[in-house]
Amino acid sequence: MKILVTGGLGYIGANTVIALAEAGYEAIILDNLSNSRMAVLGDIEGILDREVPFYKGDLLDEKFLEGVFNKEHPDGVVHFAGLKAVGESVALPLKYFENNVAGTLNLLKVMKAFEVYRVVFSSSATVYDPQNPPPFTEDMPLGPTNPYGDSKWMVEGILRRLSETHDPWAIGILRYFNPLGAHESGLLGEDPRGIPNNLMPYITRVAKGELKFLRIFGSDYDTMDGTGVRDYIHVADLARGHLMALTALSRGRGLGIYNLGTGRGHSVLEVVRTFERVNAVKIPYEYHSRRPGDVAVSFADTSKAAKALGFKASISLETMCRDAWRYEKTKK
Ligand code: NAD
Ligand code: UFG
Repeated sequence: MKILVTGGLGYIGANTVIALAEAGYEAIILDNLSNSRMAVLGDIEGILDREVPFYKGDLLDEKFLEGVFNKEHPDGVVHFAGLKAVGESVALPLKYFENNVAGTLNLLKVMKAFEVYRVVFSSSATVYDPQNPPPFTEDMPLGPTNPYGDSKWMVEGILRRLSETHDPWAIGILRYFNPLGAHESGLLGEDPRGIPNNLMPYITRVAKGELKFLRIFGSDYDTMDGTGVRDYIHVADLARGHLMALTALSRGRGLGIYNLGTGRGHSVLEVVRTFERVNAVKIPYEYHSRRPGDVAVSFADTSKAAKALGFKASISLETMCRDAWRYEKTKK
């Protein structure tokens, strides 16, 4: 089966291309390189020891999309392409709505025109209303608190309505919690430009000496040690979740929404201590005030993904920390 992977040179997309190819799918990558590098294609091909078709272009360019579908005639799409920086989305909401919502609309229009009705979409735990008590279940009220989250929520709404039409759409919405780690080869990690916003890329740059210390945002949350708690999931587990979602979609039409997390929360301090222990490096840190918009605790109820997809994350926080550091040390 031929799967078009939008955003396939990005962090999660590239790891999923590997999982797809290893499971016998034929993966085709589409990416505009707005947040990725061409060298990732070489890394993917090196790991797989084969060429992977790549199309450089933008979801906002409908003609380009038609060209790709015309040439490749995919059987389904795994749709990662999107912008994901929460802070930037607050400053530039129109950019986020155009790229993430209008870009997805173009993709869906072209899919319908070519009668490709199978799609897996990258959503996020950020769509949940932060008032919900964790663990988050898929049927809890939604209420994103920033334009990035709104863009995911809007696309979820579009997909839900599409699934109610007469067309035979088979749609999987995956709400990721906090992906960490890299491919076991030491390649295909997370490499944000500039100063990282997210915890693990910040930690690895402190470990490397590029940043002096980690600022821990909040030490007075109602958690085991006062720092924020998140559900960190290894990117290889996350990639595997997409395979299981695709298998579920092949069973028939409709819409399925699934959390992808481990179902376990770890505090910022736990992540720091684990990283220090498994990698034998020191991470100096200072406590700062809470980061605006952060919730104290976020973790997934994973029972729906377990029951409906047979998905269970199995890779430990230790391995996530080891793989993230291996990637940072060896990255070109
Ligand atoms: P990423 O930025 O590494 O990958 C996204 C890729 O999409 C990039 O390679 C980028 O160049 C490409 N892209 C963006 N807009 C495009 C467009 N208009 N046309 C073509 N290509 C475009 O991000 P990621 O961490 O791999 O995330 C993948 C998806 O998962 C995103 O939709 C993101 O919102 C979602 N997600 C990520 C996280 C996370 O913490 N990483 C959490 C929840 C959800
Ligand atoms: N944190 C720090 N210092 C830092 C960075 C983060 O203390 O320098 C803390 C945060 O306060 C939070 C935890 O580390 O308690 C995790 O923060 P991240 O920024 O790594 O992740 P978030 O949970 O805030 O958000 C991430 C993505 C969102 C996505 C969400 C849920 O950035 O896009 O996970 O999937 F929506």
